[in-house]
Amino acid sequence: MANQSTKSTKPANGNGALRSRDWFGSDNLLNMSNRAYLRAEGFTSRAFDGRPVIGICNSWSELTTCNAHLRQVAEAVKRGVWSAGGFPLEFPTISLGEVLMRPTTMLYRNLMAMDVEECIRAYPMDAVVLLCGCDKTTPAQLMGAASAGVPALMVTGGPMLRGMYRGEALGSGTDARKFWTEKRAGRLSDEEWCEFESCISRSAGHCMVMGTASTMTSIVEALGMTLTGCANIPAADSHRMSIAEESGRRAVAMAREGLTPAQVLTRQAFENAIRVNMAIGGSTNAIIHLVAIAGRVGIDLPLELFDEISRSTPFITNVRPSGEMLMEDMYYAGGLPAVMKELEPLLHLNAVTVTGKTMGENIAGARCFDRNVIRTLKEPLNAEGGTVILKGNLAPSGAVLKQTAASPHLLKHKGRAVVFESYEDLWTRIDDPNLEVDENSVLVMKNGGPKGAPGMPEWGDMPLPKKLLEAGVSDMVRLSDARMSGTAYGTVVLHVSPESAVGGPLGIVQNGDEIELDVHGRRLELLVPDAEIENRRAAWRKPAPHYQRGYGRMYLEHVLQAHQGCDFDYLRPV
Ligand code: FES
Repeated sequence: MANQSTKSTKPANGNGALRSRDWFGSDNLLNMSNRAYLRAEGFTSRAFDGRPVIGICNSWSELTTCNAHLRQVAEAVKRGVWSAGGFPLEFPTISLGEVLMRPTTMLYRNLMAMDVEECIRAYPMDAVVLLCGCDKTTPAQLMGAASAGVPALMVTGGPMLRGMYRGEALGSGTDARKFWTEKRAGRLSDEEWCEFESCISRSAGHCMVMGTASTMTSIVEALGMTLTGCANIPAADSHRMSIAEESGRRAVAMAREGLTPAQVLTRQAFENAIRVNMAIGGSTNAIIHLVAIAGRVGIDLPLELFDEISRSTPFITNVRPSGEMLMEDMYYAGGLPAVMKELEPLLHLNAVTVTGKTMGENIAGARCFDRNVIRTLKEPLNAEGGTVILKGNLAPSGAVLKQTAASPHLLKHKGRAVVFESYEDLWTRIDDPNLEVDENSVLVMKNGGPKGAPGMPEWGDMPLPKKLLEAGVSDMVRLSDARMSGTAYGTVVLHVSPESAVGGPLGIVQNGDEIELDVHGRRLELLVPDAEIENRRAAWRKPAPHYQRGYGRMYLEHVLQAHQGCDFDYLRPV
């Protein structure tokens, strides 16, 4: 039976009124039908006695391997909801699996956000628990929930246990790249490579370095959108299920309180999250996602703010790829609450959180148990935060670089460009023995941005030419409008904005041009005379669009640039 209710589009509850009562609370035909169809699932009439309906928004998928355990996590949430007097209803959304999905999950982040938003709005939920883990599932759910405006909190899936290979602890992504480089350089046998494959992923959960997944899950805790201590509990640890159950209970209370995401996602909360991102050496991708999430609640986060906070935030978290340890070690050391406790003098402690308490109250009892993993502000790993913002005639709207994962000797560098017109061009020529390149060259790749790739894939950490690897070169300056996996490392300039495919200056760089990178001075310059730049701009031609129809076309017509968070223009509040 079609639901003809016009009330179903009513926004979130407020003043304690449950929006689910519009679906279930009356004795009319429509409400009877709504109840009857749910009773077909075996629920009794007690499910409709006025208790809050708690949606469990599950990004579980066997194709999103990092989230493949979230059905079990959902069961724990349901226990909590029932025990607190709520009525849990689990529902699926699109799921974005970082490893298997092509051309890139980033192409679909906004689609998932729309799916989440519309499902929350369209169904009878009084609050929602968001289950996420893999890179894009976390920001997509938070963007959607922020726009839907219904009370929400997140339960992240937790990192995998550390990989182990011949007594050596392995971090996903980071060590895969390291071992692949060894194999390409001829220093790892086929047998060792095969054994490595069987050792790196030992349990359920997301990547267990401080990659994008661990960064984003830490950031949502710093934003105040999870219960305290949620982010770093390993997926395989029983505490993961305990905090899921507790989150279910808390969701019921939030439904009654009417605590919406907009009340938690304040400017103070975003400044706390940026601060934490810098202190943990978080993924560069977090910048794009934070700008997009903030945009959903009408908050503008200019890139300059990230740089300002980076300069005043010591990097204190010794986790790969910027450090040595893994997420499991971080959890045993006290996890994110211990990091935030250390950052206390730099945080907005009055920020409201989904716990119903302030951030200051949440972290009041936090302690660090291992100073090798979580350092003090007085003895940091680096005086500044992980990520810096660069500007200059090559990136008028900004570019980013993760200085804690870069080589110190390349942070101030001048070199000649070796230009690749696309990712395909890169892979075709990078190992050509005749490629004119040396260790001082700057590898430049075009058409890796939001529209040019499309979807701004994680292509930015370009492979080094094989002949240089064999000669012992371990890093070079690389530059593109693409992104980079949070698990990657190197002196890599990313997110150059505007991108080459929309006429950004990156599009006119030619082989042999001199490029200057000055991380301390925050500059990125193309050392070509202005008149020559103007001539090249006049001759530049826009590439043909990648899509003529469907979602791809909609994406190309509406996606914003990297410094604007790559959201769709029409998804921001009007
Ligand atoms: Fe899912 Fe790394 S592949 S978090």
